[in-house]
This record gives sequence, structure tokens and C-alpha cells, in this order.
Amino acid sequence: MNDFEKSRGFWGSRAGFVIAAAGSAIGLGNIWKFPYITGQHGGGAFVIVYLICIVLIGIPIMLAEFTIGRKTHKNPVGAYKNIHPAGLWFLVGGMGVLAGFMILSFYSVVAGWTIAYVVRSIFMLVTQFETAADAGKYFGNFASNPFEALLFHTIFMSLCISIVIKGVRSGIEKSCDILMPTLLFILVLLVIRSLTLKGAWAGVVFYLKPEFSKLTAQGVLVALGHAFFSLSLGMGAMITYGSYLSKKENLASSALIVGALDTVIALLAGLMIFPAVFAMGLEPSAGPGLVFHVLPAVFSKMPFGNIVSIAFFTLLAIAALTSGISLLEVVVAYFIDEIRWSRKKAVLIVGSVIFILGIPSALSFGAFGEYKLFGMNFFDIVDHIASNYLLPLGGLLICVFVAWVWGPKPALEEIHIGEHKFPFAGGWVFLVKYISPVAVGIILIAKLMGK
Ligand code: TRP
Repeated sequence: MNDFEKSRGFWGSRAGFVIAAAGSAIGLGNIWKFPYITGQHGGGAFVIVYLICIVLIGIPIMLAEFTIGRKTHKNPVGAYKNIHPAGLWFLVGGMGVLAGFMILSFYSVVAGWTIAYVVRSIFMLVTQFETAADAGKYFGNFASNPFEALLFHTIFMSLCISIVIKGVRSGIEKSCDILMPTLLFILVLLVIRSLTLKGAWAGVVFYLKPEFSKLTAQGVLVALGHAFFSLSLGMGAMITYGSYLSKKENLASSALIVGALDTVIALLAGLMIFPAVFAMGLEPSAGPGLVFHVLPAVFSKMPFGNIVSIAFFTLLAIAALTSGISLLEVVVAYFIDEIRWSRKKAVLIVGSVIFILGIPSALSFGAFGEYKLFGMNFFDIVDHIASNYLLPLGGLLICVFVAWVWGPKPALEEIHIGEHKFPFAGGWVFLVKYISPVAVGIILIAKLMGK
């Protein structure tokens, strides 16, 4: 390792790395999206399919990303160049950096809403609704107000910038060490609150009772796509986080722990949301509007709903923040390694550009909402391109790269450094060679066909 590699930063401990990677994985995807797609696609049956996708496809790809990162101690572009200097593989890394730019720009808008709802909860403004329709109308007015949408987008990006600028160890690791336990603590309290409400059991049944008749091929695709997004795969976020890990740490068990943590938090999020929705006699099937339309109405009816609301939106904001910093770090790492900018310069410039790119997304629910392409506003377009195409394509190519270009042998050598046992080596190679790329390829084709 040369001096530059040493100077780009390191995790202080393996626990710090695992917590930060879990922070990247655990995001709005777990707390906002996972519960409602589970509700839509067959409850327990969907959960079983999701678990299979996490184990057979998600965790193996995560390990592939960690391995590339730790081998090279580089950002995604540099990592591909380092392992395979010939050809165009570095472009796969470039696609990841681009996806990071795009995802953070709209992620920040939604994250901004969650912070705004913390503030509004403190002033008792989001817990005074009779019905979900009232809460939904209120949300519509809120999201279309350009002043607030921009203000909270600015606040969220500033928070990400202020953490990432302090570096890997004193910025990202330190903040995740505080934020992630806080997240777990709030989540557990809210799950207990929810499960102890009268009538909560109906929600548990709705959420987890396997209904295989509701599980469709579409549901399987959704499970696979979500496993991917939820674990932050496909754009090199885990390459970047792996690049700050020292050679003595165990890659395989880290991937397993991060995957398990991400899944447990997603499952708990459902156990927090559905029992409360049922206990308050509201409709669970609200889809994406669940968090901002239905839950405020649920909190309005609940004893001490105001405090629950503050806790819930704080939880969402924390989850979004630890994911947001990972998205920013991918892009920043590129400019530090490849263009040799200082961390400060990279964070300030990249953060500002992402902030600017987010402005039309922030305004997509009001002033800019009329500008549409294929029926989608700016926010939807950026989300659609990055999440549906760039990420799966990136994930597919990561598998092909590790299994077929770099080769399983050198990859396994990297995993085995430090004499760590990896009893699933053969299975992992098989999955990354055949199963994961085919599965991810199928999602990509299905998305291309508009399914
Ligand atoms: N995994 C995060 C979530 O569940 C989102 C996210 C953060 C992400 N970083 C990523 C997704 C990198 C893909 C790639 O909300």
C-alpha cells in the first residue's frame, strides 16, 4: 500500500465498517418501501421469496463488491482499472458514480420531507387528521410548496456534506456509531408500542400470513429488485466502503452480518407499521403513500400519537442520512482517488452539484410538476433511470467481472487473507458465476420491457 492509499482513510474497526455498511443498506428502502411491497404482494409468502433473494443473490454480490474494494483500496472506477487495466471495465465503475449522483439527488428530496415532518410533528401539525385522505391532501400541499421542499433538501444535503467532509473514520464511522443504535432503539420502542395496541394482531396476520395465491411472477421480480436496492448494491457503494477496510478483517462474515441486519430492520419496520394501521382501523394497502398519507392519520388517532410521530419521522430521517452519506462518499471517493482533489474540495463541489441536480426533483411535486416526459416528472425520471437500469446493469456486470474477468481464484485469495474460514467458497463462486447474473439479468430485461 502506498502513502496515498493510506491517506485516503480507513475504518477504525471492523465493527465500525459493518455498522457503516449496514447504515448504507438500511434506508428509506427498508422502512418505507419494504413494508408496503410486502403488503401488496402476499405477506409472508413475499417475505420468504425476499429472504431467498437476499441469501442467494444479495449477499453474494455484496461480498463480490467488498472483495473488489478491499483488494484495490480504490473507488469503483479506480478499482476496475486497477484489477483489469485493459478494456472498458472502468466504465462500469463510472456508471456507479453516475448512479450515486442521481440517486442522492432525489433521495435527498424524500429525506428532506422526513425532516420536515419531524419539525411539523413537534408543532403538532401532522397529527390532527380524521382520515388518510385528509392527511394525503395535507401532504400534497406540503410537497408542492417550493419553499419548504427546497429548504429541507438543503438541510439534508448540508448534513450529508458536514459528515462526509470529516472523512471515513471521524465522519462516517463516528456518526453511524451513534445514529445506528439510535435507529434500532427507536424502532424497537415503536414496534412494542404498535404491537401492544388493541387490535394489533390483525395487522400482524395481514403482514406475515403467507398467501401464496397473491404471490405472482411480478412479486418475485419486485422482491429481487428490492433485495438489490435495499442492500445498496450495483453502484459500487460497497466497493467504496470495502476499500477502507484493512487486510486482516473477514469479508465473508461481514457481508453476512450486513445482509442479516438489513433484513431484520426491514422486517421490524413492517411489524411497526401494519399492527398500528390495523389497530386504528385504517386501510393498509396504500402503497407508496403509506408513510405520508396513512401513518399521519394513524398517529392522529393514537394515544400520544404526537410523540410517536416525532419518533417515527426521526427514525426515517436517520435511516435516510446514513444511506445518503454512503451515496455521497462513492462520488467523493472517485474525485479524491482519480482526480486527486482534496476531500474538502471534493465534498463541497460534489455535494453542491448533487444539491443543484436535486432542485428540479424537489420542485417536481409543485412548480415543475407539469414538465413531463413519458408521463413522468423529473423526480420519477431520475429515480427510474438510476434504480431500474443503472443499478441492475451495474450489479450484473459486477458478477460477470468477478466471476469471469478477474476470476474466482484471485477473488477467493483476497477473501482468504488472514486465514479466515469461508466454508461456502464453492457455493459463492457458483452463485456469482451463474445464478446472480442470470437473476439480475432477468430483472433488467423485465424492466426494459416495462414490467
Ligand atoms: N439501500 C438504501 C435503502 O434501502 C438506499 C441506498 C443507499 C442505495 N446507497 C445505495 C441503493 C447505493 C443502491 C445503491 O434505502
